[in-house]
Amino acid sequence: MRISVIGCGYLGAVHAACMAELGHDVVGVDVDERKVAELSAGRAPFFEPGLPEVLERATASGRLRFTTDMSEAAGAQVHFVAVGTPQTAGSHAADMTYVDAAVTALLPHLADGDLVVGKSTVPVGTAARLAERVRASSSGADLAWNPEFLREGFAVKDTVSPDRFVYGVPAGAGGERATALLDEVYATALATGTPRLVMDYATAELVKVSANAFLATKISFINAMAEIAEATGADVTQLADAIGHDARIGRKFLNAGLGFGGGCLPKDIRAFQARADELGLESLAFLADVDAVNLRRRAKVVDLTVELVGEVEGARVAVLGVAFKPDSDDVRDSPALDVARALHDRGASVRVHDPEANETARRVAPELDYVADVDSALRDADVVLVLTEWKQFRQLDPAHVAELVAELRIVDARAVLDLGAWRAAGFEARGLGRP
Ligand code: UDX
Repeated sequence: MRISVIGCGYLGAVHAACMAELGHDVVGVDVDERKVAELSAGRAPFFEPGLPEVLERATASGRLRFTTDMSEAAGAQVHFVAVGTPQTAGSHAADMTYVDAAVTALLPHLADGDLVVGKSTVPVGTAARLAERVRASSSGADLAWNPEFLREGFAVKDTVSPDRFVYGVPAGAGGERATALLDEVYATALATGTPRLVMDYATAELVKVSANAFLATKISFINAMAEIAEATGADVTQLADAIGHDARIGRKFLNAGLGFGGGCLPKDIRAFQARADELGLESLAFLADVDAVNLRRRAKVVDLTVELVGEVEGARVAVLGVAFKPDSDDVRDSPALDVARALHDRGASVRVHDPEANETARRVAPELDYVADVDSALRDADVVLVLTEWKQFRQLDPAHVAELVAELRIVDARAVLDLGAWRAAGFEARGLGRP
């Protein structure tokens, strides 16, 4: 099938490459010339395990190309809209500028029978609004909403073989046609038994934002327990293990620590709450607390660091990890980068090492000192902070670190170190929610 993908960021670039991998003939359209040039050369413009291989195969096969020219979307039967919906400056609502601009630019190139498929995370009500515009532009064109649930670091796997497909479609014959077209797009995964749920637009839009709100709430729940544990001498990791054995609760997404960040969870819970406010509903007021607990963890790590070093002005701080999570070079709303910047602002001398995110972080926080390897970050440090749980940081050897640093102090903000082993090696070792 011929497919266009409008927007080639984290979501769109992966989606375009994976659709080509599945055998479709794909054109990716983006307004960013640099991104299009990189992708056209078969290179991923961001770090995502497995993506370079898929891109290389797909571009070499001739089934995948990228362009800045929207008219090249003409001729495709299915047009995925995968542009960003960032947080609006000065408000919590989603900024719909890019979605609206993408649809406006696409409309003149639609033909009878084309299906526009929204993938972006949007406020409920968006699909119905856009569907009217699509139908008005071309007699037989229609719209479906097909949210994605991909996680960075697992984006290729999550796209090719997701947990489930969700199709938001119009009622009646239009819905049946949209469903049939999407089934054709996803035939490979559907053949392996991947569940597929067909529903109306509003429900499909809500599935996405409510899934993210639930995940964020689960993380903030355990981080709230970490605060209680800190006040009572309890251990939040043992608590999570114990409650996680209850299958109704589950252990996944109960890792207490520095909390959630990234391009999705923080802005999505804010936009969801803003949408509920617009609807005159108090239902999501609790998400303000979810957000607040999450942000308090960042402040807590800054406080712990200050407590350990005494005088923060001039203290040499080794920051291990600035990506918002491991296996990513993404620093959007990164808790780790926030902590590093806060300490720098208080006068600390902050030296940062991240296996993949040094360059992305440098672009937004050039004031920090980025070094290419762990040892350079550790050398002469007054305190070491593990802020992103990359595998290489989990495996740090206390004896080796002790040889490099000036003072034996470490903060494990991701609950990945054996604090007992570090203490046995002479470190003053602190964690979050752990005695
Ligand atoms: C998330 C959703 O998981 C995905 O389904 C959606 O499509 C996009 O948003 P992603 O942003 O890639 O994906 O990251 P995710 O793995 O969900 O982690 C989000 C944040 O939560 C990270 O900062 C991570 O460190 C943090 N986290 C996760 C915790 O603090 N504790 C946990 O137990 C799990």
